[in-house]
Amino acid sequence: MPAQRFVDALNAQLGREFGASQQYVAAAVHYDASTLPRLAAFFYRQALEERGHAMMMVRYLLDAGAEATISGLEAPRTEWSDPIEPIAMALDQERAVTGAIDELMTIARDERDYASEQFVSWFVKEQVEEESTMSSLLAVAERCRDDLMQLEEYVARELAATGDDPSAPPPADAGA
Ligand SMILES: [Fe+2]
Ligand SMILES: [Fe+2]
Repeated sequence: MPAQRFVDALNAQLGREFGASQQYVAAAVHYDASTLPRLAAFFYRQALEERGHAMMMVRYLLDAGAEATISGLEAPRTEWSDPIEPIAMALDQERAVTGAIDELMTIARDERDYASEQFVSWFVKEQVEEESTMSSLLAVAERCRDDLMQLEEYVARELAATGDDPSAPPPADAGA
């Protein structure tokens, strides 16, 4: 079984993944209400991805014989003063998650826990993609500030749904 301090840190992280999911639902609803359907679809999809990350962490803890804890969430932010703010918030959120994933990796290494290190390494790679996606989206959004339909076109063209990643760890709800 992984060291207790890794288990505690992974439980804290899976709570943050659920929190990120809820925050992305809030951003999606905001765009949906603003008649920006492509941005809404993108954030709805991101919300499902974050939930998926939490479920992968639950599966790993259960498989490792550790306790997985499902906790309550802080209320997400739901008010924004301009249509670019949710994207800037999302980039900040992804950067914070990258820091937390790196910390999990550090703990796994300190504990010489190779299984946990291998598990976390998928998330290290995932965060590179997530940060890259969000920072590109923010750059385009700032450029298209006065013509949001161009931003919608960018999201439709460049950020369409991709297939499942076969290298992703299995989620707890795979059989659902
Ligand atoms: Fe995530
Ligand atoms: Fe993410």
